[in-house]
Amino acid sequence: MKDAFGTPQSLLILGGTSEIALATARRLVARRTRKVWLAGRPSPALEQAADHLRDMGADARTVPFDALDAESHTDTLGALFADNDIDMVLLAFGILGDQARDEDDPLAAVRVAQTNYTGAVSAGLICARALQAQGHGSLVVLSSVAGERARRSNFIYGSSKAGLDAFAQGLGDALHGTGVHVMVVRPGFVRSKMTAGLDEAPMATTPEAVAEAIETGLRRRSETVWVPGALRVVMSALRHVPRPVFRRLPV
Ligand SMILES: NC(=O)c1ccc[n+]([C@@H]2O[C@H](COP(=O)([O-])OP(=O)(O)OC[C@H]3O[C@@H](n4cnc5c(N)ncnc54)[C@H](OP(=O)(O)O)[C@@H]3O)[C@@H](O)[C@H]2O)c1
Repeated sequence: MKDAFGTPQSLLILGGTSEIALATARRLVARRTRKVWLAGRPSPALEQAADHLRDMGADARTVPFDALDAESHTDTLGALFADNDIDMVLLAFGILGDQARDEDDPLAAVRVAQTNYTGAVSAGLICARALQAQGHGSLVVLSSVAGERARRSNFIYGSSKAGLDAFAQGLGDALHGTGVHVMVVRPGFVRSKMTAGLDEAPMATTPEAVAEAIETGLRRRSETVWVPGALRVVMSALRHVPRPVFRRLPV
């Protein structure tokens, strides 16, 4: 159960090596979170992440999870929820792809879509149903500002995030009044391994800043969180820029 400040006691991360997710886990473990499951593709990095959270005092475990293997999600996630009360699920897996390469390799583009969108549809529905059966909990979904308006420079990733974002909004409405809270988080450019080597976009931020915004959003039971917050205003203007002008913007 969460405390009065909305801090979960138990946290399931889907995409257990995500830098944003791990910054969030560290922040929550430093407060009150005691149990953490890191679900992800088995790797030394996943085990090291669990070790680090254990060093901080959490009971951290790893769980094999592949977003692309939707057929396994019911068994894997169902087993976790059958044995445990989980206060918060952070859906953090995702890949950026390589727009230029993926335009010439439709199967690679499909992998971006399947990881970011259909993988999240499957895992999101299963977790939502389990949280609803518990009668409480938060599902926090890492969407992206890239899904707000498709850009020439990354429309494959952006379209997958647009789908994810719409899905998560609808799921939040479906669960409204059930005691389960769905929060859509839309970061801009975050300095993490996903963006390593890329030119920084304006208003670039850090995994720690996203973690802080997530914690605040949990406390307020926000439905949508932008990071940094000023992106909400910027995007509400950019959303209405006519396409011939938008095409020429260096975004
Ligand atoms: N960085 C940004 O600028 C930014 C901005 C807005 C939104 N976001 C979103 O925030 C989320 C976390 O991003 P991040 O910056 O923390 O990136 P990150 O450190 O690269 O984390 C990405 C995570 O996705 C996991 N993943 C990829 N494919 C997977 C699959 N098939 N099955 C299971 N897990 C898979 C990776 O696991 P492996 O260790 O197995 O590769 C890793 O844990 C992503 O959804 C991303 O789209 C990021």
